[in-house]
Amino acid sequence: MKYYLTTPIYYVNAAPHIGHTYTTIAADVIKRFKRMQGFEAVLTTGTDEHGQKVERAATAAGKSPQEFTRAISDEFKRQWSDFGLGIDHFVRTSDDPKHRETVQWLFDRWMKNGYVYKGSYTGQYCVFDELYVNEAKPGDACPDCGRTTETVTEENYFFKLSAFTERLLELYAKQPDFILPESRRNEVLSFVRQGLNDLSISRTTIKWGIPVPVEGHHVFYVWFDALVAYMTAVRGLKDTEGHDFWPADLHLIGKEIVRFHAIFWPAFLMAADLPLPKRIYAHGWLLFEHDKMSKSRGNIVRAEPIRKVMGADALRYFLLREIVFGQDGSFSYDALIGRYNSELANGLGNLASRTLTMINQYRGGAIPSGTDEAIEKAACGTIRASAEAFYNFDFSKGLESIWSLLSAVDKFIVEQAPWTLAKKQDSESQAKLDRALYTSAEALRVATALLSPILPESCAKIWTQLGMPEPLESVRLDSLAWGQLRAGQKIGPIEAVFPRRDAKPAIEQMRELEAKVSAEQAVLLGKAPAPSAEPAAPAGPQITIDDFAKVELRVGQVISAERVKGADKLLHLQVDLAEAEPRSIVAGIAEVYAPEQLMGRKVVIVANLAPRKLRGLTSNGMIVAASVEGGKPVLAGFLEDIPVGARLK
Ligand code: ME8
Ligand code: MG
Repeated sequence: MKYYLTTPIYYVNAAPHIGHTYTTIAADVIKRFKRMQGFEAVLTTGTDEHGQKVERAATAAGKSPQEFTRAISDEFKRQWSDFGLGIDHFVRTSDDPKHRETVQWLFDRWMKNGYVYKGSYTGQYCVFDELYVNEAKPGDACPDCGRTTETVTEENYFFKLSAFTERLLELYAKQPDFILPESRRNEVLSFVRQGLNDLSISRTTIKWGIPVPVEGHHVFYVWFDALVAYMTAVRGLKDTEGHDFWPADLHLIGKEIVRFHAIFWPAFLMAADLPLPKRIYAHGWLLFEHDKMSKSRGNIVRAEPIRKVMGADALRYFLLREIVFGQDGSFSYDALIGRYNSELANGLGNLASRTLTMINQYRGGAIPSGTDEAIEKAACGTIRASAEAFYNFDFSKGLESIWSLLSAVDKFIVEQAPWTLAKKQDSESQAKLDRALYTSAEALRVATALLSPILPESCAKIWTQLGMPEPLESVRLDSLAWGQLRAGQKIGPIEAVFPRRDAKPAIEQMRELEAKVSAEQAVLLGKAPAPSAEPAAPAGPQITIDDFAKVELRVGQVISAERVKGADKLLHLQVDLAEAEPRSIVAGIAEVYAPEQLMGRKVVIVANLAPRKLRGLTSNGMIVAASVEGGKPVLAGFLEDIPVGARLK
């Protein structure tokens, strides 16, 4: 039996952060859990490399889209491999002939089935979300991300999404677990019930995409291209019983992209007469100080420093234990270390080393025999309860159930006091000691097996320390039962699995690494120059604060922009500085910024520069841009919330 699951195909406009790691870790956990249930589980992830957002990020980095997307995609790959995640297929949408072919093949099937037509469309487009905002008027903000939408008119190919309203509603009714959790299902239902508009699925305004077969100057809408990646990865692939891996059993996603997955994607597949995925599960957001952690907000934490300081398992455990899967949850270093020390070091780690050390001390390292029935009963209850919770992706509940077993065993050890029993030579005490040791070790084995999808590295260590002859991966959930630990088995060398950590130095170390990784990524994204090996050159002549005060820097908003005839580098801008009239400014940024990209954007202007003439045009002020040696100018940014006219000091 196959089980095919996917994570989103992440955008490469920035390097991965802990939100991406969260989804990918959860997918890895589910894959391991499915394997434990006996499935042939296959996991696909990848990078979403086309579209305007990525194209612009490449431009800002001063790289070609090809060069840029490869670099960021490699960074995703490297991180998943360093985290030990079981990725079977990694799709790069811009660098995979099979993917391009699959996208075009699907489109052909739509054409044949009559679901595509050509039309013209003018609308407000959110570049960040790569989505038309139906209700918006020019200048309106995107309801999802709050950024100003851009007016776009295109002659496009349209997909008849409207034809699928009824069929989609039928699908949701027939398969109530098609979209989970319930809250997300309700959101989709009410959206579809209002009726669906047709969807423009090609673009002529950008080149960075997969060409539409019939008309090469159209490229496919990036979301169409991205969703198809789920199929590309397993097209033609069969499991050992000869079943196709497609359709997917699970698309695991974050909640902000549920509409694309639960509405567009099944309709796309219906239109091509292809089998539909079985389930869309949309988890919640990782928050940072009550706000969604995201690249654009800049409030991100990266997973790598945490892995380096605390280990991959510590992060896996924290994310799945702290956050109720499906709901939003907060990340903090303090909470991470708190749980690590109390639940991993003191809880699981301590139980393992205590139990194994006593078996060494009192029984020469050989597992004795005897069972305490109350603990056996508790363990059997935990196997059932945690398996059911994991089956429902309720990881925190499953972990809670395992931890209540661990604390029952801790209590049991204290009550039995093996250290006292060991001093008594009568056979009753010795039998009691045997029973206490076997019971603790067997409970530890059961817990370790159940935890292996979540803590693969640490559980493998405990498994070896228990001296288990068969590999941990061979354990099947339905045959896991009490009493399988063999008496007489020799345990392995003991080593602490979760050494206690001092919070302060560990957090400091993570923060330092975070700053370092963040600086490295800024270089990767072209947002900072590569550090030179040479000591920094003297920064040029110094000025006094009074000199600086003479320069009047102000925030302006671009209200029009056009190319200057005969000058490849120049744009002629009208910039609102909250003065009586807009300023006319000529700027040498035409090679990097298209006029429409600048419309409505806030920029920094040197407002008191003496006017000069360029190509017959008056330039009254200068636009501030960062320029890296040999690179292209990048406008000073992050001013969208500052009122026009504000002075920078
Ligand atoms: O949306 N909390 O890519 P993307 C939890 N390319 N999960 C988070 C998160 C957070 N703060 N931030 C990101 C795209 N994620 C498209 C997908 S699929 C055919 C195309 C995770 O780079 C979460 O899984 O914006 C979310 O859905 C995904 O990253 C968005 O990644
Ligand atoms: Mg996003």
